[in-house]
Amino acid sequence: MRILLYTGKGGVGKTTVAAATGLTLAARGLRTLVLSVDAAHSLADAFDLDGRLADKRRGAPMSVAENLWIQEVDVTEEIGRHWQDISGYVATLLAVTGIEEVLAEELAVFPGMEEVSALLYVNRYAREGAYDVLILDCAPTGESLRFVSLPPTLDWYMKKLFRVERSLLKVARPMAERVTSLPIPSERYFDNVKELAGKLDGVDALLKDPATTTVRLVTNAEKIVLRETQRAFMYFGLYGLTVDAVIVNRLLPQGLADPFFGKWRRTQDRFLSEARGYFDPVPIWTVPLEDDQVVGAAGLAKLGAALYAGLDPAASFRTTPPYRFQKKPGHYVLTLDLPFVQKEDVELAVASGDLIVTIGNFRHHVPIPRTLSGLVPTKARVEAGRLTVRFERGAAEAERG
Ligand SMILES: Nc1ncnc2c1ncn2[C@@H]1O[C@H](COP(=O)(O)OP(=O)(O)OP(=O)(O)O)[C@@H](O)[C@H]1O
Ligand SMILES: [Mg+2]
Repeated sequence: MRILLYTGKGGVGKTTVAAATGLTLAARGLRTLVLSVDAAHSLADAFDLDGRLADKRRGAPMSVAENLWIQEVDVTEEIGRHWQDISGYVATLLAVTGIEEVLAEELAVFPGMEEVSALLYVNRYAREGAYDVLILDCAPTGESLRFVSLPPTLDWYMKKLFRVERSLLKVARPMAERVTSLPIPSERYFDNVKELAGKLDGVDALLKDPATTTVRLVTNAEKIVLRETQRAFMYFGLYGLTVDAVIVNRLLPQGLADPFFGKWRRTQDRFLSEARGYFDPVPIWTVPLEDDQVVGAAGLAKLGAALYAGLDPAASFRTTPPYRFQKKPGHYVLTLDLPFVQKEDVELAVASGDLIVTIGNFRHHVPIPRTLSGLVPTKARVEAGRLTVRFERGAAEAERG
């Protein structure tokens, strides 16, 4: 199953483009599901179906055309059904002061339940093979980043904390319950987390494999929107996802006689050519501003035709994963593509077998492969949008031979 993730700044046209892509692919005979991951759903509105979705099928896939389904995940329903215990526990623990700082910090990034429910669907559909293409109509950039950062965070939690917590509690529970006011998670909590992790197993690899998943950033040819797109581009790289196209929506027609719109078009031209420069070699696709809002299948199909003229929307337009390890004589090099990043923005640390890359508020644990264990990072540099970290034997290991 191919996964296409459409995201970008609020209001740029993500839902419209995702819906138009769905129609284009369905018309080519591919079984396609457009899944709305945004809590503020507007996918059904884009298809002009508000009335039809109001029935009891809300939350489930609904057929909108031949080979095409849409689904607006009902988060409240999902959480109510599956994760009351976990979310309840995490919330309680966070509310209690006095937990170790590190633990609190890690728990704060513990899965957002909304994103988890969407991820569960992604994994389930991939396992079932029910669709050829899954299109994710995502929330604005920030939340989408939380979405893609969840699988590695959960994986990290399961590997590094979960087992320790569980086995410690087995021994300490009777005493802990007497001496502490901290909520002690029940065995059921652990079973729930384990079950959840089992259902999400593999989704991380799906998202990071550019042959399966690619991200398409929807943007407008304006300075502020483009700046956010550049940041999004970098952060998706940080989380190991491949952006394979940037879609510039709402371009005014060329050669407008009207001075007001003529000026706008010149601004757009300037930022469009800047965008081509920044994102190279990632392709830039453009979408004209229509003369009215784009609502309903006919308008969406027309927009899809303008956007994909001659292109197969299901193809992967870029297949280089954003990070890779290479063996060099006497050392290893980790290369991480972080376009637009400045040296001073990046912080690096190593902890329990992970390289921790922090940029602004985003942090990612890059697992260091087993072959590199025992090696230490000796040099890091940021150059031309690329972070390279050199791993060598530390002095102590070198002495031991
Ligand atoms: N190329 C276009 N021409 C004309 N109207 C457009 C175009 N693209 C999007 N629109 C209109 O702009 C509005 C917002 O689009 P849309 O809902 O797709 O944005 P979004 O990025 O998904 O917003 P949100 O951040 O709220 O999810 C809609 O009314 C849509 O019909
Ligand atoms: Mg939207």
